[in-house]
Amino acid sequence: MNAVVSDRVVAAAASLSAVQDFYFNSRYAERRGDPALCDFTFGNPQEFPLPGLVQALQKHSVPLSESWYAYKTNEAEPRAFLADSLTRELDLGFEPDDIAMTPGAFGAIALAFRLLLSAGDEVLIPLPGWFCYGSMLSAEGVAAVQVPLTPGTFDLDLAAIDAAIGPRTRMVVVNSPHNPTGRIYPRAQLEALAELLERASARINRRIFLLSDEPYRRIRFDGIAFVSPAAVYPWTLIDYSYGKVLLAPGQRIGYLALSPLMPLADRKALREAFFAAQCSLGWSFASALMQHAVPDLENLAIDIAGLTRRRDRMVGAMSRWGYDFVRPEGTFYLFGRVPGGDDERFFNALADRDVFVMPGSVLQTPQYFRLCLTASDDMVERALPAFEAAAAQLTPA
Ligand SMILES: Cc1ncc(COP(=O)(O)O)c(C=O)c1O
Repeated sequence: MNAVVSDRVVAAAASLSAVQDFYFNSRYAERRGDPALCDFTFGNPQEFPLPGLVQALQKHSVPLSESWYAYKTNEAEPRAFLADSLTRELDLGFEPDDIAMTPGAFGAIALAFRLLLSAGDEVLIPLPGWFCYGSMLSAEGVAAVQVPLTPGTFDLDLAAIDAAIGPRTRMVVVNSPHNPTGRIYPRAQLEALAELLERASARINRRIFLLSDEPYRRIRFDGIAFVSPAAVYPWTLIDYSYGKVLLAPGQRIGYLALSPLMPLADRKALREAFFAAQCSLGWSFASALMQHAVPDLENLAIDIAGLTRRRDRMVGAMSRWGYDFVRPEGTFYLFGRVPGGDDERFFNALADRDVFVMPGSVLQTPQYFRLCLTASDDMVERALPAFEAAAAQLTPA
């Protein structure tokens, strides 16, 4: 990049380079969209969209007033609807004013960062973890401090979090259900984290906020319960997206919600700052159409039973060939150890057989790989022999 580009974008690009290269300049980039390919890389749909989503968009695209497509901010109807539905889902009394309507979780995360962080602050993010937090923080002039999850189980490592907190720490990001491992943190672990953050905030004499990144909250297997950190730590902001549960990430709609347990004075300050923060992010409000559609989107979901079957089919078959997975409790990812330990060789061995996975190096964990279960059943069946062959090829006899 030459001097034309701002320092902020140069910093963001450095943090995104692995995923950007993978998306635009890799063997995967050359083949993306080819019907012969079995694509397990990103959380994109490989099948037609949910009919209920299409109907909701068709219905709400028909204007019911002159202002149907006027500028929208955080509109009263979806906020009231969501306050009610979140109150029931998370068993916490949300208020409409505490909800900001954003273009997906991306928009909500950017809003949380803009609302709370100043240049020079530090934010703790999980490793492994989603690959975009770092770039968004860099662009705000904020340092991302990667804190490893507990090796093997990928639980929150409370000692590591405590050790990473310093005088500039302003926020801890918790992502549950977790991309890429599929872990869902139980209440006891979140309560221990809340105690830790309370103690650490007193120690550094500065309130540490928690961003609960929950876009996979409704994608859970085997009836496993979900507890939001917002229920145990008052200074929590929730970000959510409909992009995952509807598997329609190109239609941008989500929200940021302040925990109702947060002291009213802090909530009021944040509420009042929503407009300036969203406006300064480039009118970062969800679009008119998507805000109108919220009530009809709420009860739609991809086929979770189908995802569960796909998880079980792949984990079952691949474990027999020596693959070592963390069995996901939620999300649509499988995170496994690379047979033989070299993620590039593994990626190439599969790519030679038309199967594409995300190499762990994109997630800064090169001994691992990620599979996305949004691949179709047909892709799974076509790909399994390639996984068997790659394991045989790369694992020393
Ligand atoms: C953990 C996590 N957070 C946030 C996002 C952003 O979600 P969206 O694109 O729906 O805004 C993603 C998307 O992959 C994610 O995996």
